[in-house]
Amino acid sequence: MASIKFAAVGKRYPNGFVALENLNLEIADKEFLVLLGPSGCGKSTTLNMIAGLEDVTEGDLWFDQTRMNDVPPHRRDVAMVFQSYALYPHKSVYDNIAFGLSMRKYPKEEIARRVQDAARKLEIESLLDRRPEQLSGGQRQRVALGRAMVRQPQVFLMDEPLSNLDAALRISMRAEIKALHQAMQTTFVYVTHDQAEALTLADRIVVMRSGVVQQMGTPNDIYERPRNMFVASFLGNPPMNFVRGALARREGRVFFDAPGLQIEVVPELANRLAAQASGPAVLGLRAEDVTDEAAGPHHSQLSGRVVSVLPVGSDQFLEIDVGGARVFLRLGKESRWRVGETAQVSVNLHRIHLFDQASEHSLLWP
Ligand SMILES: Nc1ncnc2c1ncn2[C@@H]1O[C@H](COP(=O)(O)OP(=O)(O)OP(=O)(O)O)[C@@H](O)[C@H]1O
Ligand SMILES: [Mg+2]
Repeated sequence: MASIKFAAVGKRYPNGFVALENLNLEIADKEFLVLLGPSGCGKSTTLNMIAGLEDVTEGDLWFDQTRMNDVPPHRRDVAMVFQSYALYPHKSVYDNIAFGLSMRKYPKEEIARRVQDAARKLEIESLLDRRPEQLSGGQRQRVALGRAMVRQPQVFLMDEPLSNLDAALRISMRAEIKALHQAMQTTFVYVTHDQAEALTLADRIVVMRSGVVQQMGTPNDIYERPRNMFVASFLGNPPMNFVRGALARREGRVFFDAPGLQIEVVPELANRLAAQASGPAVLGLRAEDVTDEAAGPHHSQLSGRVVSVLPVGSDQFLEIDVGGARVFLRLGKESRWRVGETAQVSVNLHRIHLFDQASEHSLLWP
């Protein structure tokens, strides 16, 4: 069993750069936790501190009841898979997978059993005699996973393990990693900057920016109730639309007004606003919550000039100009809009988001 706890952890690199600030995070035993954020936000730094490859310069790191700050990497019972695979080029696949166990002087039969078992799970049994250069990228990645699996670690760390693979392979490997987590029954901490990967894999996601956690929660929490504009725009494809305007209260009702757009905030959401909330605000709309179908109840009409039409296979994205703001919609492929036309669309009023313009914090999910 291995739970991991960061208590007010910070990381200052020797050159003085602060890569992580005041991280407080508890990762449950057997959880699949994903660290998500743009390049340079501190994901690898955080993972490397769990592995012991970087020291903790502030606060405490715990595995269960043990403080780990000063425990060397080889005594941590963690295995790590890197983006670069880091395979030994002159060793066979078998020896690459077996390496960690041979180093630790495991009996030959035990090594053989574990390597065969991992190879079967990863469907690379027929490749055990090859060298890494004789493998495709996806096969190499599986060897790297196999090498970590045979260690049967308490904690499995993965740093962008799929980023070198092509799009189709990435999606099929996602499913394999999820299955691997179920089979291994260990704690997984997984780093990615790919929001779709995070939404698919995670029990819980930690969204980071510039060394500071922005939000933690289940994929559904983070997608449905983003706490600020950064999180709102980082998850979802296309990213959430933002329209700048103002909140106004009229006769006990709350409206959001912007050039070319006026919508009423439904009471369920208006009740979530601070009592006197009014003035500059940002409306957030997800593409899938704006349609060109006839407005149903709890929908509000808007119209906008079609700026672009972008087919994406099963769907299409439509970009419209609403009073100077660009709004993307996701439509079925039957829709036949052309650039320059004026599209009538309707917004699902139960699914809007509202943010403070200055702080960019959510006004609905503080
Ligand atoms: N050894 C180091 N010395 C100084 N600064 C460093 C060092 N290693 C990383 N950094 C800085 O710390 C920040 C976080 O780096 P980190 O590698 O954790 O980012 P990341 O989120 O993994 O990014 P990416 O998605 O690009 O891998 C970056 O700004 C990086 O430049
Ligand atoms: Mg990194």
